[in-house]
Amino acid sequence: MNNSTQKGPARVVFDKVSKRYGNNITAVDEISLDFPAGTLVTLLGPSGCGKTTTLRMIAGLEMASSGRIYIGDDDVTKLPATARDVSMVFQSYALFPHMTVLQNVSYGLQVSGFTKDAVSAKASDVLKQLGLDVLSARYPNELSGGQQQRVAVARAIVLEPRVLLFDEPLSNLDAKLRRYVRQEIRDLQQALGLTVVYVTHDQEEALAVSDTVVVMNNATIAQKGSPRELHDRPMTQFVADFIGGANVLPCEVADVQGNLATVRLGALSLKTNHCEGSATQRHVAVRPNRVTLSPAGNPNALEAVIQKATYVGEQMEYMVQTPLGELFVTSADTNNPIAAGMSVSVAFVESDIVLLGD
Ligand SMILES: Nc1ncnc2c1ncn2[C@@H]1O[C@H](COP(=O)(O)OP(=O)(O)OP(=O)(O)O)[C@@H](O)[C@H]1O
Ligand SMILES: [Mg+2]
Repeated sequence: MNNSTQKGPARVVFDKVSKRYGNNITAVDEISLDFPAGTLVTLLGPSGCGKTTTLRMIAGLEMASSGRIYIGDDDVTKLPATARDVSMVFQSYALFPHMTVLQNVSYGLQVSGFTKDAVSAKASDVLKQLGLDVLSARYPNELSGGQQQRVAVARAIVLEPRVLLFDEPLSNLDAKLRRYVRQEIRDLQQALGLTVVYVTHDQEEALAVSDTVVVMNNATIAQKGSPRELHDRPMTQFVADFIGGANVLPCEVADVQGNLATVRLGALSLKTNHCEGSATQRHVAVRPNRVTLSPAGNPNALEAVIQKATYVGEQMEYMVQTPLGELFVTSADTNNPIAAGMSVSVAFVESDIVLLGD
């Protein structure tokens, strides 16, 4: 039942979708997800967690082992890639080396049966949009990495796909160019209102470009939310550590009143926003720049010892040994560094402590 006569960016829905390889490998385990039309959703997670498999199931390059996949109003679960109206930009760009930029961008339109005039008009339109018109006669090996990346994007959007997929599109670029191109992708997505699903294992990149970030771990969804929600309110140790490298410390939940929990961190008692979970022995997360170091002897702090102090330009980085474990602490005060071996007090602001569910 392929009646995908609808055009324009579409919503994608996963309903309990799994992908298994043979008897032993579950690459994606019963995930349910909504990718709203016109938004950029990022799949973020460590190597092997199932990001690419999820993306390829949207494209129809892998078939789901169970569950349903919808694009717009169409159930596409059993449809081949060619019937899905989805384009994918690969990490390697996969440009045709023997074709010019213009020919690369025109190719998909030609095989879709557009007239010569329509192909030429659409291709030059998109090339202009991406500032590639001056390069249209060049071959891929005559382009920089960033330019090749842009041609790959042009080739994908010229087909006006209902969903545009990116699999680690920036990994071949250097750090500075990566920042620039990721913003370019985001600007284009917003200007054209595209539905984009974007895969990366770089948390900063994910926070920078996304409307919604889906953190994956071990073939499942660990947490989903806006960049700010994930950064400020991680729910588990895994997410707290993966997003922004928060410190995770063991705590005891002494009391819960509505949204407020009292937690014991060693000898300290702190009030923090309550998070789901009912166990007494749990963990809190605290960001490296939210830990205050002061001279030893503060009664409202943990006693600790500086193990390592490193000057890294705009800040100091400390490894601090506390009774609850090791903490990574950053401080903007580079003028008064604390030497390794010094005893210090480690204090927290209550609103900076996030109680985790595990
Ligand atoms: N064709 C296949 N046959 C068997 N196992 C596969 C196949 N493709 C992927 N897998 C396995 O499925 C799991 C998920 O792979 P996937 O490529 O989706 O990970 P990923 O999150 O994209 O990782 P990376 O960040 O390394 O690209 C991995 O354990 C992988 O080894
Ligand atoms: Mg991958």
